[in-house]
Amino acid sequence: MTPIPENQQQALVSRLMSACGGAYSPATRRRYFISGPQWAAAYPGHALFHAPTRPEIGFEDVIRKYADIGIGYWSTHDTDVIPTEALGKDAQWEVVGRINKFLTENDVKCSMVTAETFHHAVWAAGPAAESPGVREYAKFRVRNTVEIGHELGAHFAVYWPGSLGYFVQGAVEETESLRWYAQAINAACEHDIEVARTKGRNTLKHCLEAKPFEPQAEILLPTSDAMLAFIASGLLTHPEMVGLNPEYLHELMWGVAPRAALARALLAGKLFHFDINDGYRLKHDVDIGIGLVNPLDWLNVLVLLRSHSYNGPFNLDYKPPRTTSQFGVFEVSFPTAVDRFITLWELAGEVISDPIVKEATDALKAGGPMVDVLDAEALTRAHRELLSLHELIAHRIFQILIGAHRGRVIG
Ligand code: GLC
Ligand code: MN
Ligand code: MN
Repeated sequence: MTPIPENQQQALVSRLMSACGGAYSPATRRRYFISGPQWAAAYPGHALFHAPTRPEIGFEDVIRKYADIGIGYWSTHDTDVIPTEALGKDAQWEVVGRINKFLTENDVKCSMVTAETFHHAVWAAGPAAESPGVREYAKFRVRNTVEIGHELGAHFAVYWPGSLGYFVQGAVEETESLRWYAQAINAACEHDIEVARTKGRNTLKHCLEAKPFEPQAEILLPTSDAMLAFIASGLLTHPEMVGLNPEYLHELMWGVAPRAALARALLAGKLFHFDINDGYRLKHDVDIGIGLVNPLDWLNVLVLLRSHSYNGPFNLDYKPPRTTSQFGVFEVSFPTAVDRFITLWELAGEVISDPIVKEATDALKAGGPMVDVLDAEALTRAHRELLSLHELIAHRIFQILIGAHRGRVIG
């Protein structure tokens, strides 16, 4: 192959994107509750071992590009858009005003706000540090984020207590830290009740997000299940206002089945919000775009959520790879992530209504002939042939994933 001149590379990317075939229209994409985080689109490609590969971009570009693609919702950390030193000051409300104007002009809604309680040096000892001063500051940050959320029309607030934990053992007493963390969540909920009342709005849905490792070495609330226990622990003054924002990869990172973690959240009535992405088991938080690693698992996750009428946001919490250029972020990364999600969502509907899956599932639930329930041998024989349907269903779901139910044949 001859080298591709620099000034022809974007055209090549665009041509191959078209050659990939169909894409959903922006209007179709807007029909799904898909939100694009400020931080995902603005991510410049940096990491502990990585220098940035793209320029930083602001909310104006992100919102405009999301609108063009058809991502109808936007989410943000407080400090993604407001400098730390301006928080709570007049300068903050000036930025919030500009964001609101931008959102309206582009017909994009703010769905979720989240306080950054992990990045700034003030959080070195975490949001529930021993220092009463730092803990007061944490309360200020979450209360302030609630106010910003109401001002921007959001319905969700997310808390990722990534730095609630420790590197070295013995200095942190876990029960104390968890009590202090609960006080911050309580401050947010109590303030929310006040603000919602004065604004005539509903209170926000407050969503805890777990990650099993990073950035602390040991994390006090590492999984969605740990957070369910925390919500039910009696430490929260408004547990009814608090639920979960599981992230697909964060569950996978500790080796669990994300679908099972979601099922437990559903049963508890706490699946409020969902961060969608992909990655590998027992590895760090690589935040790859949905469906690029585990499409079959993703299809099954969406079957579960569709069949339980989950109607919260799907937040595109992934990081466009460092190899993707600024042009590629909006030309390739976001449109393809959205379209893979929509495709998988629609395929999940096809799985649910597929006659083969349905008949096999019903047959399994009908079971074999009634025999003496105390006779293990007879029970085994009565179901022996029926249980092959488990693998048949898995094969059928694979077929639906590759389009075999629409005529694509193997061989
Ligand atoms: C950080 C985390 C992300 C989380 C977000 C919300 O960006 O990496 O997983 O969803 O914060 O606070
Ligand atoms: Mn996340
Ligand atoms: Mn992540």
